[in-house]
Amino acid sequence: MKDGMRLISTGTPGLDEVLGGGLRRGFLYFVEGDSGTGKTTLGLQFLLEGARRGERTLMVSFSETTGELATAAASHGWTLDGVEVRDLTGKVEDGGAPVLFHLSETALDERVDQLLEAVGEFRPERMVVDTLSALRILSDRPGHLRRHMERIQHRLHQLDCTLLMVDGVFGEELLHPRSLAWGIVRLEQCVGDYGPQRRRLYVPKLRGQPYLGGYHDMRIRTGGVEVFPSLRAVPVQPAFESRVVSTGVGPLDALLGGGLLQGTSTALLGPPGAGKSTLVSQLTVALAGRGEAGAVFLFDESAETFLRRAKGQGMDLGPRVDSGALRLIRVDPAECSPGEFGHGLRRLVEEEEVRFVAIDSLNGYLHAMPDDQLMHLHVHDVMNYLAARGVITLVTMTQPGPLTTGERLSVDLSYLADTVILQRYFEAHGAIHAAISVMKKRYGDHEHTIREYRIGPGGLVLGEPLTRFRGVLTGIPEYVGEQSPLM
Ligand SMILES: Nc1ncnc2c1ncn2[C@@H]1O[C@H](COP(=O)(O)OP(=O)(O)OP(=O)(O)O)[C@@H](O)[C@H]1O
Ligand SMILES: [Mg+2]
Repeated sequence: MKDGMRLISTGTPGLDEVLGGGLRRGFLYFVEGDSGTGKTTLGLQFLLEGARRGERTLMVSFSETTGELATAAASHGWTLDGVEVRDLTGKVEDGGAPVLFHLSETALDERVDQLLEAVGEFRPERMVVDTLSALRILSDRPGHLRRHMERIQHRLHQLDCTLLMVDGVFGEELLHPRSLAWGIVRLEQCVGDYGPQRRRLYVPKLRGQPYLGGYHDMRIRTGGVEVFPSLRAVPVQPAFESRVVSTGVGPLDALLGGGLLQGTSTALLGPPGAGKSTLVSQLTVALAGRGEAGAVFLFDESAETFLRRAKGQGMDLGPRVDSGALRLIRVDPAECSPGEFGHGLRRLVEEEEVRFVAIDSLNGYLHAMPDDQLMHLHVHDVMNYLAARGVITLVTMTQPGPLTTGERLSVDLSYLADTVILQRYFEAHGAIHAAISVMKKRYGDHEHTIREYRIGPGGLVLGEPLTRFRGVLTGIPEYVGEQSPLM
């Protein structure tokens, strides 16, 4: 809580961050969205947060009965202890006939009176009204509803009570009570062709304080609503001094002009099976050996497979994983929105002081994303964020190989990354060999050669620089030199 501005937490940390710290005490906010977008859940989180802090919290419900609310809360593992619920639904829970409200302005007046009565009796410090839609249908004169809303707002302001008004999504008519609000949070959901629905929110309006604009992904799971502030909107940190970190492999350091620079990203590109993940393991061993924390995000294989392969190649990452210094994180791209992925990364960097991050591979992630253009921006944001925090970033991407010609890549990683390491096959004396080279490095010089490599104990074993190639820019160049420098 920022006392100077008297901001209070919404009970949803990501939303507090989006709102620039939280809600202003004593003010009116709208939470808008279609059915099932999570308005009631968010409202309950707000009230439970107040109850935790020992505040008087009131839920006036026009839509769900006390029993229904308790059931919804229980499904998230909550109880409504400490939250005063006033059930104004008119529903009878023991199976009796429900009260039928006349659609009239008198009925509207009566219901608002009931609401204000509850307020007067209980004198809440936090309050949720769920939902304004229930009052809206009683009157077709927007001006009438708005005047009532003004009454409610005035009363709660006197009590210094923060009010979340839940509402559906309605038109932009002139007298919409929304215009009385200090801030509005809009919840949305959409369903893709595959996987669970994607949820997101944005803040169409917030007076008097800076906030994070644009869409922010969110998720509802057992335990409530989680909001993932977009990496794009997170403020950048001041510049840091970056150092070159050795890869632990002499010839690879030579190729890279010394090693990997902190705060830069390196793309590992190559055809399928070229050894990109092996190189990730090898670089992980070198980076983790410096005693810094790191994380590898696995999109294509399980942590066990990654560990087993590395171990088979003489790199035992197990102890690092066991000690918690190295995090191997399996990501299911169908389940994880870009926002949630970015948020997980942020938590690792800011809370667990992770200093290097590997993403293996980007292909798996991209395939699950419906919108190529946005994905490009997202990857750009992720890299920018990590760079600004001085993190060393490795990203692998499988490029069309001899067996996958014609495949289209939706994100040009070679353009986004600071350094590009290219692994590829070449032909020599009638056999296929593998070569590695550094295609680009934004900061500083690097070797402009091609070296052969083999995968041996400890990862990639590099040979001497080779010259005498023909067709270097074709898919598979041919080595036309002597047999002797080959491995
Ligand atoms: N444990 C859970 N795991 C995943 N999703 C859940 C879980 N519990 C609830 N949900 C989701 O939350 C949605 C309900 O949210 P909520 O009742 O807060 O929406 P609402 O905006 O208030 O809807 P309405 O306008 O109909 O009142 C459900 O439709 C469901 O998709
Ligand atoms: Mg609801």
